Amino acid sequence: MIRLFSESCRSESCRSESATHSESLHSESATHSESLHSESATHSEILTAESSHSKGLTAKLSLQSSHSEALTPRGLFITFEGIEGSGKSTQVQLLVNALKIKGLPYLTTREPGGTIISEAIRSILLNPEYAEMSPETELLLYCASRAQHTSELIIPALESGINVICDRYFDSTYAYQGAARDLDENLIDTLTKFATSGHIPDITFLIDLSVEKGLARIKHRTLDRLEKEAVEFHQRVRQQFLSIANKCPSRYVVLDGDKTPEEIHQRIVSALQPLIGEGND
Ligand code: TMP
Repeated sequence: MIRLFSESCRSESCRSESATHSESLHSESATHSESLHSESATHSEILTAESSHSKGLTAKLSLQSSHSEALTPRGLFITFEGIEGSGKSTQVQLLVNALKIKGLPYLTTREPGGTIISEAIRSILLNPEYAEMSPETELLLYCASRAQHTSELIIPALESGINVICDRYFDSTYAYQGAARDLDENLIDTLTKFATSGHIPDITFLIDLSVEKGLARIKHRTLDRLEKEAVEFHQRVRQQFLSIANKCPSRYVVLDGDKTPEEIHQRIVSALQPLIGEGND
């Protein structure tokens, strides 16, 4: 029934009124990142922390200690969801470019992953050699990864006024482990609340696409353990995402994955406009 999230699809309680200072995040992130470098920019100092343990997206922190804090006292928690091959990564990148242009502070991250421990769990979860993994183990590992990611990275970033863009979050657990693996949603509710300390994204973009088209887009690459699942599995995932979006209309924006990346991006920007404002451009 997805009770936890239908009750409060856009959590105002997650957003505090008080502006917090971003310096605390610098030191937080420095503890788990192996490289921290700074570079000067025109009107603000940009610090970028990249965890060198992971290839690709991972926790990439770009933070601008400028007057943008006044616009977003607490960071906005933005998540992207969708089936395999839906185009989430492209949209995350386009959104990052837009936030950069506006001079808004942001952090991009992903699930499973985002911290050293969560990335280690990711490598277990997605390893196609672990075909024998039970659905129960799978659920617990996704939740363990999320617990570390949320407490170590997401909450400190939001509290420091950083907008967090996360590629997947707990809705994926309802879709993949709940609907597709047929695990108990009450249990997922309990584990999710525990792993996230009740944090709920402010806005979730679901890029909806047919399973056939999504799988066709990824067929050229080496598939991970989840991507290798049957078409019916991915169909259950898609249906569950649509069902969650239907139950949480104030949090969800459903996007047509058949549109061009630029058209989808424009819809995302318009949906975010009232939440993040015009920025510094
Ligand atoms: P990605 O390929 O989009 O990075 O996602 C990793 C895989 O993990 C993808 O197949 C979806 C799956 N997944 C779950 O099954 N449950 C979850 O809670 C999350 C976050 C991802």
